[in-house]
Amino acid sequence: SAAEKAGYASFMLKEIAEQPKAVADTLLGRIDGSGTLSLDEVRIPPGVLREVDKVVVVACGTAFHAGLIAKYAIEHWTRIPCEVELASEFRYRDPILDQQTLVVAISQSGETMDTLMALRHAREQGARVLAICNTNGSTIPRESDAVLYTHAGPEVAVASTKAFLTQLVACYLVALYLGQVRGTKYGDEIRDVVRDLSGISGAVEQVLGTMDPVRELARSLAHKNTVLFLGRHVGHPVALEGALKLKELAYMHAEGFAAGELKHGPIALIEEDLPVVVVVPSPRGRSVLHDKIVSNIQEIRARGARTIVIAEEGDEAVAPYADHLVRVPATPTLLQPLVATVPLQVFACELATARGNEVDQPRNLAKSVTVE
Ligand code: AGP
Repeated sequence: SAAEKAGYASFMLKEIAEQPKAVADTLLGRIDGSGTLSLDEVRIPPGVLREVDKVVVVACGTAFHAGLIAKYAIEHWTRIPCEVELASEFRYRDPILDQQTLVVAISQSGETMDTLMALRHAREQGARVLAICNTNGSTIPRESDAVLYTHAGPEVAVASTKAFLTQLVACYLVALYLGQVRGTKYGDEIRDVVRDLSGISGAVEQVLGTMDPVRELARSLAHKNTVLFLGRHVGHPVALEGALKLKELAYMHAEGFAAGELKHGPIALIEEDLPVVVVVPSPRGRSVLHDKIVSNIQEIRARGARTIVIAEEGDEAVAPYADHLVRVPATPTLLQPLVATVPLQVFACELATARGNEVDQPRNLAKSVTVE
């Protein structure tokens, strides 16, 4: 009903707007100002976590994209090898798992059959399962060894928005916690990032306040057939998520690519006036990545693409090659998906609306997929 939407035209718009609070709620009671993280609710004893020699993340759809980002964070801060797999593929390929494997199952609903089957398979092999879930008491957390709830509040729109951002936060917390428990050489960095996380809700709020040009751009592209998304490093899963949102909501052909793969094939798709969204990593820190993506933007622009560039505030190097520039606040490299995804959600929602689609209930889709 209209009352439930609290004045918004759709649940999706309401849920996009709720993201600063959702992110803050995921962090509540789990981090403090001194840079310490307490996840006592993860009932897997620290001794067991210290013995973990492999992390496997399983999930579907948007939750899988959160998992792809988690891999960068887990491997960096914990130095434990991490695999990420679509839950629907996982158990059918005879994966190698044992008591030292930590499986992280990510699911908003906690009822996705593919993810549930993957976690059952993992537990049968002796692996420990940690669920990252938004729905209290749902099947996936009930069948897991431990659970980290995302506390995003109910997500009604079929397209996941606030659940995704909070899944990311939960993934970062798991990565940082494992790093803290195992005492890697990144101790100081871990403390700094925990502190940075406390500012992330405000950064998301800031992005939401600057979305009018994105909406206008989306409306101007409503007649297009294809939109491509490019990113590198953690920007690659963000590109995949931007493309998924556009497929499910706008029913458009959209694809996400790793920008470095362009020259291995996808660049042949570039033609005059094709909209290409590029997620640009921070020029600070990993500046190599930044330089590489700037040349990718130049390459596609030279071939006529219309570039929609998502870049950090103060990143001037990209400006000359951007037909449309969307600014996001500066964040540590690994945290950038928390701000860079938001414009892509707004873009897809507005474009779908301009095409006359029902954003909360896209055709052919269900909120939770309880069949395999
Ligand atoms: C997201 O926009 C999708 N509707 C879908 O990909 C979803 O993320 C996927 O089905 C997984 O659902 P879950 O998080 O409830 O397990």
